[in-house]
Amino acid sequence: MIKQAEYIKSAVSVSDLPVDDLPHILLLGRSNVGKSSLINAITNRKSLARVSGTPGKTITLNLYLLNNSFYLVDAPGYGYAKRSKTQTQSFLKMIKDYIKYNGHLKKIFQLVDFNVGPTEDDLNLYRELQKIDIKLVIIATKYDKVKSSFRLKQEKEIRSKFLDGQLLYVTSSESKYGIEKLVNE
Ligand code: GTP
Ligand code: MG
Repeated sequence: MIKQAEYIKSAVSVSDLPVDDLPHILLLGRSNVGKSSLINAITNRKSLARVSGTPGKTITLNLYLLNNSFYLVDAPGYGYAKRSKTQTQSFLKMIKDYIKYNGHLKKIFQLVDFNVGPTEDDLNLYRELQKIDIKLVIIATKYDKVKSSFRLKQEKEIRSKFLDGQLLYVTSSESKYGIEKLVNE
C-alpha cells in the first residue's frame, strides 16, 4: 500500500537526480496514454502529477517519492505529432541517458492503451527494452473505456502482441481497476 507520496523534483539530465541509493521505477509510453494519471491513481491523489486531455503535458522527468522508499518517475510521452523534431530528439536523448546512466533504475513500466492496443511505436520500444537488463512490466491503461463485452477479447489480443510470459497488468486510473494489484507488484 502507498501510504506516502511527494513530488521531489523535475530533472532534465542525470546530473539533476537525487544523490541517494533509493530505487527508481520509470514510466514510459505514448503521449496521452495515461502515465501521469497512473501516478495519481497509484498514490490515491487527485493531482499530484499534472494530467491533461491535450498530449504533451509532461516535458521533464518528474520524480515522486513513494513510501519514503522508492522513486516513481514520470516522463514525456512519445508519438506526439505536434512536437518539433528537435524537441522529440532532445526528450529521447534525455530518457535514453536516464536509462543508461542512472544506476538506481530497477524497473520500467511501459504503458499501452487498452482501448487502442499496442501501436507500432509501442512495439518498437518494447523490442528496445528487451535488450537491456532492467525488469519490464507492461501496463494496459484506460480499461474503463472498453465495452465490457469486448474486454476479454481485447486482453487476449494485447497479450498476443508481447512475448510469452511478459508481465501485463490491466488498469484504469479512472475506475481504479487493477491498481491495487499493480501496487502489490
Ligand atoms: P503526456 O504527459 O502527454 O505524455 O500524457 P500522459 O501519458 O501523462 O497522459 P495523462 O495522464 O495526462 O492522461 C491523458 C488523458 O487521458 C487525460 O485526459 C486523462 O484524464 C485520460 N486518462 C488517463 N487515464 C485514464 C483512464 O484510466 N481512463 C480514462 N477514461 N481516461 C484516462
Ligand atoms: Mg504526463
